[in-house]
Amino acid sequence: MQPHELTKGTELQLHIADSAFEGKTVSRIDGFVVFVEGAVPGDVVIARVTKVKKSYAEARVVRVEQPSSHRVEPRCKYFGTCGGCKWQHVGYEIQLRFKQQHVVDAFERIGGFADLPILPIIGSEDIYFYRNKMEYSFSDQQWLSEPPVRNSEIRNPKPEIFVGLHVPQRYDKVLDITECHLQSETSNRILNVTREFARKSGLNVYTSESESGYFRFLVIRQSKRTNELMVNLVTFDEKKDVMQGYVKALQTAAPEVTTVVNTINTKKAQIAYGETEQTYLGDGVIHERLGKHLFTVSASSFFQTNTVQAERLYGVAKSFAELQPHEVVWDLYSGTGSIALLISAAAKEVIGIESVESAVRDAKRNADANGVTNCRFILGDLKDRLTRDTAWMQSHAKPDVMVIDPPRSGMHQRVVEEILALNPTRIVYVSCNPTTQARDVKILCSERYRLVKLQPVDMFPHTYHIESVALLHRV
Ligand SMILES: C[S@@+](CC[C@H](N)C(=O)[O-])C[C@H]1O[C@@H](n2cnc3c(N)ncnc32)[C@H](O)[C@@H]1O
Repeated sequence: MQPHELTKGTELQLHIADSAFEGKTVSRIDGFVVFVEGAVPGDVVIARVTKVKKSYAEARVVRVEQPSSHRVEPRCKYFGTCGGCKWQHVGYEIQLRFKQQHVVDAFERIGGFADLPILPIIGSEDIYFYRNKMEYSFSDQQWLSEPPVRNSEIRNPKPEIFVGLHVPQRYDKVLDITECHLQSETSNRILNVTREFARKSGLNVYTSESESGYFRFLVIRQSKRTNELMVNLVTFDEKKDVMQGYVKALQTAAPEVTTVVNTINTKKAQIAYGETEQTYLGDGVIHERLGKHLFTVSASSFFQTNTVQAERLYGVAKSFAELQPHEVVWDLYSGTGSIALLISAAAKEVIGIESVESAVRDAKRNADANGVTNCRFILGDLKDRLTRDTAWMQSHAKPDVMVIDPPRSGMHQRVVEEILALNPTRIVYVSCNPTTQARDVKILCSERYRLVKLQPVDMFPHTYHIESVALLHRV
């Protein structure tokens, strides 16, 4: 078949050549690129075309005709339906190879770099049960259709309460799972007890259409280092007696739970955060250790979800920074202060800047609790804070080194410009999205920085996500 003959719905045989962005793979028909969902490089598949554009098409695997030698049996019975672990059917060593290539592709194609100073990816020793946080959604609609959920029972209880993970692009429906291999067996038990409790409660799931109902999210945070375990039930309104009953059910089925929190979100936005929090058991927080520092993590705190790999990632950032005792560091997008605290002993002073008030509060609390006295945390949006806020600028020492850890969208262009104006000697850029990192690093390097080292670190086995740390020197 010729590329111009492709239409939506066409089925065709494809040889899968490479991995691509976002867990997809690539096949070529006479040089025309087809991005294929559900395949593995080395496969020969029959795929159905789902989209045709001028320069590329998209397709989804219908059946595998010749499996790639990279394929392994996925552990999870929901694999293929749940959007979480796109690569569970690929051996871990090969996943790492794809992730390394993803960083290379981003820096070569988007950043325009050649002879990339990239180091071999740091993989994760634990490839299952590595998460310290899981977030499940409640829904009154269950995702059932293709590809079918393997080995699972399909039930249709009344009232219809389902709790699990969203399938990709379907925010109204959830895959009603009974187990996930990314947190612990205890976490699975809590998920199932919660579903049972909700179904017996006589209450409904909140829906944004009706703007009523009770159950919204279940968030489980489990420390890897202190055995503390938080269950946070996010609901639309406050029902004290229901929460008290829920605590009893949890204590019977999962005595490992150390604290139970009820976050109340009265807004339409379907997010697992809210306006108020009530604690029904314990002190409403858990503690997690990173290096020698102990962090207090509350229900609303950001905290890296893979504790062991977070330590490695931040360790790379620290060693790249090569801090001297007289140097001032600005930690941009400082969150709850994990990087700042980790590097504090090596620097004269660390100034963290962060836009979320509760994160700044947590960061200050974490510094105090760990006896760290040379870190300061400042609330503000970075695009207004840096060189523009002259009063603020005068009251702080200028940075010798900058550590930057932005969200997936990368840095606002104005922030990049202001970093250039501040002119630090070294920049350590930690990123969870190599495409935006490559874009930002390109701008910095087109002015007066040089990319010295690039280190990919895998925080999320079986997903296509990859973190990378770039070191830039002023030239
Ligand atoms: C990837 S997290 C970094 C977390 C941090 N390194 C830590 O370990 O806690 C990105 C952080 O940037 C913050 N953020 C996002 N946009 C921001 C902005 N425009 N100005 C300041 N902070 C921002 C988010 O609230 C979040 O805490």
